[in-house]
Amino acid sequence: MTHLIISRQKSKSDAQSPKYGYYYFTPYVCMLAVFVLTGAAAMAAGAQLNSRVFYYLGLATAVYGILTTAGWALARYVIPGNRVTVARQIIRGLKLKGSEQILDVGSGRGLYAIEAAKKLTTGQVKAIDIWDSKSIKNVAFHHKLSQPTGNTIDNAMQNATREGVAPKIEFRNMDAAHLEYADESFDIVICGFIIGHLWQSQDKVLKEIKRVLKYNARIVLIDNVRDITYFLLSTPHMFLWSWLRGRKAKRLSEQNWFKTIVRANFAIRRWKVRKGIIIIEGKK
Ligand SMILES: C[S@@+](CC[C@H](N)C(=O)[O-])C[C@H]1O[C@@H](n2cnc3c(N)ncnc32)[C@H](O)[C@@H]1O
Repeated sequence: MTHLIISRQKSKSDAQSPKYGYYYFTPYVCMLAVFVLTGAAAMAAGAQLNSRVFYYLGLATAVYGILTTAGWALARYVIPGNRVTVARQIIRGLKLKGSEQILDVGSGRGLYAIEAAKKLTTGQVKAIDIWDSKSIKNVAFHHKLSQPTGNTIDNAMQNATREGVAPKIEFRNMDAAHLEYADESFDIVICGFIIGHLWQSQDKVLKEIKRVLKYNARIVLIDNVRDITYFLLSTPHMFLWSWLRGRKAKRLSEQNWFKTIVRANFAIRRWKVRKGIIIIEGKK
């Protein structure tokens, strides 16, 4: 595991290993402390002032902090295994020949692009993301937030360098809804946890992906699916949000993922649901 923090002292190899983000340690521990301390203070004040409202608000705050941190701890240490391990298994399952032209859409810090590049000999990976979201129109607000958390092109390139595959990957700032590649350029397009985020432009993005894929080439969709693991991992505010926007919950069902892929005119070759993640391989 590359980013499991076991000891406080980081070894040199840890400092040089790639960092793919998500499930950060410090923010969640701080969040737990803030919610539990605030909650406990409100409960104490409620007891002192004989105010049930204060008391129960405090209790709710503390429980929220504990549930959120528990979801994070499950996600990081227990349920899906390491994100890198999962990505490696998915890439291994693609049985690459080594000569493929691959596009990684919504590359983030380059996890899927890098793992795919490791399997290539003469092939090449193009990795795109809206890293510089200011230069792209109509970017949803929550995507603008991903840059401050370290989802930058520099970090993606640094990871590629650390993994020794930088020459095999071209990173470009680009909107998935307007791919600047010619028709039929790629053998495989990987979409790792991006399509589920794109409520409005999902069909448009899939149409673009289809356009840049060669005849008979493959789309590999990796995304969240609403199963028991997803339920356990979801923090309370995510649940509230999904519940308020019931459509999201529907979108993340297994059946809906199939519909989305078929609607985009891909033939489903194989699929797998694994601990909160769906992997669908479709053919143009
Ligand atoms: C949840 S992250 C997944 C990152 C990476 N694939 C991984 O699994 O580690 C989703 C990524 O999609 C990117 N993204 C969102 N909308 C996009 C768009 N319209 N075009 C390109 N990338 C987009 C975000 O900036 C973010 O880096």
